[in-house]
Amino acid sequence: MPDIDSIVARAEAEFASAADAAALENAKARYLGKAGELTALLKGLGAAAPEERKRLGAEINDGKARIESALEARRAGLADARLNSRLAEEALDVTLPGRGSSRGGLHPITRTWQRVEAIFRSIGFDVADGPEIESDWYNFTALNNPENHPARSMQDTFYVDLKDGKGKDGGLPLLLRTHTSPMQVRYARMHRPPIKVIAPGRTYRVDSDATHSPMFHQVEGLWIDEDVSFADLKGVYVDFLRRFFESDELQVRFRPSYFPFTEPSAEIDLQFASGPLKGRWLELSGAGQVHPQVVRNFGLDPERYIGFAFGSGLERLTMLRYGIDDLRLFFDGDLRFLRQFA
Ligand code: DAH
Repeated sequence: MPDIDSIVARAEAEFASAADAAALENAKARYLGKAGELTALLKGLGAAAPEERKRLGAEINDGKARIESALEARRAGLADARLNSRLAEEALDVTLPGRGSSRGGLHPITRTWQRVEAIFRSIGFDVADGPEIESDWYNFTALNNPENHPARSMQDTFYVDLKDGKGKDGGLPLLLRTHTSPMQVRYARMHRPPIKVIAPGRTYRVDSDATHSPMFHQVEGLWIDEDVSFADLKGVYVDFLRRFFESDELQVRFRPSYFPFTEPSAEIDLQFASGPLKGRWLELSGAGQVHPQVVRNFGLDPERYIGFAFGSGLERLTMLRYGIDDLRLFFDGDLRFLRQFA
C-alpha cells in the first residue's frame, strides 16, 4: 500500500519551495499531471481487489484533494507576493516636493528670424525655405561666380564628400551652402515675376572669430519685376531697418562693393547705438542690382526684368539690436546669457 500521506507531504514541501508560478506548475505536474504520482496510483486501482479498491480509491482522492488545496494556497501566495512587490516598486512618495516647471524662451536668433519674416511679409514678400546641402551650380555657378573665385576654395567652403561617392551632383561637388543666395535662383526658377521673396536659413563657412561662426544665419531677399531699381533697394532696406530696430535715427551706410551676382553692388553697414561697441560700424548685408547673367540663369530675359537682392546676417542684426559684441555667445548655450532674452 503506497504511503499517500508521505506523497502529500512531499508535494506540499515542493509547492512551498516553488519560487514562482512556472516552478509551481512543474511541481504540480509531478503529482497531478498525466504521468504524475497520484495519477499513476489512480490508474493502478483496477488491479486491486474489489474490497480494497473502494477504500484505496477514497484515500487517493482524499490525498489528491489535499494536494490540490496546497497548490491553490501556494498559487494565491505567489500572486500576493507578486502584487506586493509591484506595489512596492511603483510606490509613490506623495510627500516629495514637486519638480516645478521652468519656462523656456526663444533663442535671440529665432526672435530676429521671426521679426524679419513678419516685417517682410507685411510688405508683400513671400518666405521661402531651401536645402542646406547645395550643389556647386546653385551656390556658385548660377550666381555668376567665376571658376577660380576664392569663395569656392576649400578654405571657405565645407565640401560634402560621402564615402560611397554620392557627394556629387551630376559630377559636380555638393557643399554646405556658403550663403542663402542660391535660394534666389531656386525660387526664381519656380515662379513668374513679380518675384518678391525672402529666404532665411542656416549657412556655413570655414570661419571663426568674434563676428564669424562656421554655422550662421542669413536672410536672402529678392525683388524682380520690370522696373525695380536700386532706389527701391534703398527704400525697402532702410525702411526694414527702421522697423526692425524701432528707430528712425539709424546710422546706415551703403558702401560700394563687389559681388559677382550683382552690378552695382553694395555692402550695408549699421552703427551700434548701444553696448560695448557703441559708435562702431558693423557690416550687415551685401546687396545690389541683380546681374543680367543671373537674371538669365533665373530663366528670365534681362532686357525685360530687373531688380535687387540682398543677403543679411541674422547674427549681425541681433548683435546690433541688443548691443552684443561677440557672436559666439549665441552658440555657447550659456543660460545666463540666453535667459536675458526669454
Ligand atoms: N551672398 C553674399 C554673402 O554671403 C551676400 C549678398 C551680397 C547677397 C549681395 C545678395 C547680394 O543677395 O545681392 O556674402
